[in-house]
Amino acid sequence: MSRLIIVSNRLPFSIDRSNDTLSVRQSSGGLVSAIKSYFEGENQTADFQGKIWIGTFDAPEEDWQAALEAGAIPTDFGIEPVFAGRDIYEAFYNGFSNSTLWPLFHYFPSLVEYEQENFDAYLAVNRLFAEKIQAIYQPGDVVWVHDYQLLLLPALVRQLIPDITLGFFLHIPFPSYEIFRMMPTDWKRQILHGMLGADLIGFHTHDYVQHFIQSVKMALKGDSQFNTIYYESRIVRAELFPIAIDFKKFQQAVTTPQVQGIRESLEERFRDKKIIFSVDRLDYTKGLNYRLNAFERFLETYPEWKEKLVFIFNVIPSRDVIPTYIDRKRSIEEKVSTINGRFSTLDWQPLLYRYNHMSFEELCALYSAADVALITPLRDGMNLVAKEYVAACSDKGVLILSELTGAASELSEALQVNPTDIMDVVQALEQALLMPANEQGRRLAGMQQRLSRYDVNHWIEDFLQQLQEAKQEQQRNEIN
Ligand code: G6P
Repeated sequence: MSRLIIVSNRLPFSIDRSNDTLSVRQSSGGLVSAIKSYFEGENQTADFQGKIWIGTFDAPEEDWQAALEAGAIPTDFGIEPVFAGRDIYEAFYNGFSNSTLWPLFHYFPSLVEYEQENFDAYLAVNRLFAEKIQAIYQPGDVVWVHDYQLLLLPALVRQLIPDITLGFFLHIPFPSYEIFRMMPTDWKRQILHGMLGADLIGFHTHDYVQHFIQSVKMALKGDSQFNTIYYESRIVRAELFPIAIDFKKFQQAVTTPQVQGIRESLEERFRDKKIIFSVDRLDYTKGLNYRLNAFERFLETYPEWKEKLVFIFNVIPSRDVIPTYIDRKRSIEEKVSTINGRFSTLDWQPLLYRYNHMSFEELCALYSAADVALITPLRDGMNLVAKEYVAACSDKGVLILSELTGAASELSEALQVNPTDIMDVVQALEQALLMPANEQGRRLAGMQQRLSRYDVNHWIEDFLQQLQEAKQEQQRNEIN
């Protein structure tokens, strides 16, 4: 029996230090939300002797021991921290990961920085991860590497442990070759070569798979047939695995007394009002300014809705030392106060804005109390908030969803909008607020059925199953 080793930049928890007190909270983002649910879930069929999560520790190294002693590190599964020096980590994380790959892969080429020093740090941190895997690896272990911060890692590990079973999943879009090719040739090749160290590479949508295969063909002159790539005498498969959620966890959470208590006090506070809701990490990809512009236009176009609704607009702190994120936060906060200043009355404020982390219970209470979820990213690999909202609603609630998210292809009953088309969003808001209860229920039921059938356990087990098959195919190929 083997062990499952999950590898991602971020561990599932983050440590906050305030004065002498360490506190622990779940890290934000879809990757952690999905894998953590699986690690904690009871319905797994894949048989592993142990589960280990490797990731960077995002606090000073001295805090690790303190956090262990304070019991702040979860013990339900193995945790293997990777420590990188502060400067190198910043160039890896704020630099290459989030100022080069993130904007480029989300189609924001004008925000991309091309700094050789940052690429070098990215390679160095990927190497630290490779060494960590090598140090703990036991024959038979299955290693699954996640996301854009670790694109070089599969090939680095393959060099150290040639016959390892290794999968890779990209949680963000893989852009079309016309965008990908903007990167310097050497980086481009190293990145593709890095990913091709895996036996199986997973993406959220069919388009991302095709973009990747096309890039391999163009940049590496790699050969492929359907989803199989022949590269350096190895066979690598690139496949579609749309990430899913722990449907039952959200569905059940809304029935707990704690969530119901929060929900009731929200409903009491906004008794005669419709609740519009959104929650996103602070990020320019999330289209937050466009969303606020659309909300302002809605209030101008439909003044009869004044005092009859509230927009609970939540932003989760993220990457807020990077200048583009700092600018974005400032402009969002200016817009929020412009709208509130312009439309508020003595008894009413249209926007309730929060910039803070949120507990799971609070999130579920907001999902289930909201009449409308307004989820309008300019680009999103998948967007799990949309799926979680649908799971947490019983038969009331309307999802307005950007057609530029990976989730849009699965959530066809949502009101789909183009986030840059302000009037499109305004009309969808009106339609959502007026939607009859039976239509809300019908649309939700279609999406709920799909999401409950293919949940996070299926997603993970499907990937792991196909990883084993890809490995066997390779071994057969070697024998022939
Ligand atoms: C997205 C990415 C994840 C990342 C998360 C949070 O979901 O795909 O890899 O962990 O955002 O971002 P952060 O920079 O805080 O890890």
